[in-house]
Amino acid sequence: MNLKDLRIDRQKWMTWKNIHPLREALETLEDGTWDISSKDIVKISGDFDEKKVNDIAKLLMPWRKGPFEIGQTFIDSEWQSNIKYNLLRPYFDLKDKKVADIGCNNGYYLFRMQEDAPKALVGFDPSPLYKTQFDFINHFVKSEIAYELLGVEHLEFYEEKFDMIFCLGVLYHRSDPVAMLKQLYKGLDKYGEVILDTFYIEGDGEMCLCPESSYSKIPNIYFVPTIGALKNWCTRAGFSSFEVLETSVTQANEQRKTSWIEGQSLEDFLDPQDSTKTIEGYPAPARVYVKLIKDKK
Ligand SMILES: C[S@@+](CC[C@H](N)C(=O)[O-])C[C@H]1O[C@@H](n2cnc3c(N)ncnc32)[C@H](O)[C@@H]1O
Repeated sequence: MNLKDLRIDRQKWMTWKNIHPLREALETLEDGTWDISSKDIVKISGDFDEKKVNDIAKLLMPWRKGPFEIGQTFIDSEWQSNIKYNLLRPYFDLKDKKVADIGCNNGYYLFRMQEDAPKALVGFDPSPLYKTQFDFINHFVKSEIAYELLGVEHLEFYEEKFDMIFCLGVLYHRSDPVAMLKQLYKGLDKYGEVILDTFYIEGDGEMCLCPESSYSKIPNIYFVPTIGALKNWCTRAGFSSFEVLETSVTQANEQRKTSWIEGQSLEDFLDPQDSTKTIEGYPAPARVYVKLIKDKK
């Protein structure tokens, strides 16, 4: 696959009629120097045209991942992504590593990962809106993070291999999960590792929930495995080690409706009489976080 041509082709996405005005708005941002602190909130402080920053941030809605704060503009995203990041934080050290975040959205985790001084940080996400949100934040942060408008399906053709790949919240969106795991495997360097999370269902068996048309009102969810089934997928994809790091049930403080998204959020996706079930009657969303290792040393 020729990624050079694909990149040129995808750059044209920025001229779409819903994206072009956003790109024009970014062009109006002045250059400057700002202070950055990346704790739970990725915070940018200094001198701004506060109204312009707020107007552009609003134009770039919906903000799914965050939070970010730019001067007086607090982007209270639908997801408090700091909760997932903090849960995973004890399980990685990125110093001097080549790191990819597949399905990186607006880059919230990548901005946080800079704290480890990795050798390289590359985000993959085929969404021109999320890339534009990234470019907006990165206008102030001025990071070296590379953002590719590519998907997991392009990883095996990428010019570099990675020491560490994060792939969070993507597997259940893929209609062929074993193929996706193989793509992650091929994106790794020798001894490389993956940190991945996915929805799972409780059970000792090696089985999957296959939602009829939606799961938690999300239409493109194909398979929700037990942990046993997930382990088998990973083994079939070639990984030599599978370790469960954590499990969690999504709580109302992690995903909720804010003024920075339109439409609905978690509370509308669950059965109003029984929050252990989705609106479709399936088990409520729970996540398993795993570490996969390519080859044993
Ligand atoms: C549920 S969000 C997860 C975001 C983030 N990784 C997290 O865990 O908070 C899924 C992300 O995958 C991205 N995505 C869609 N198609 C993709 C593909 N083919 N390869 C990689 N990412 C994709 C979406 O644009 C979206 O940002």
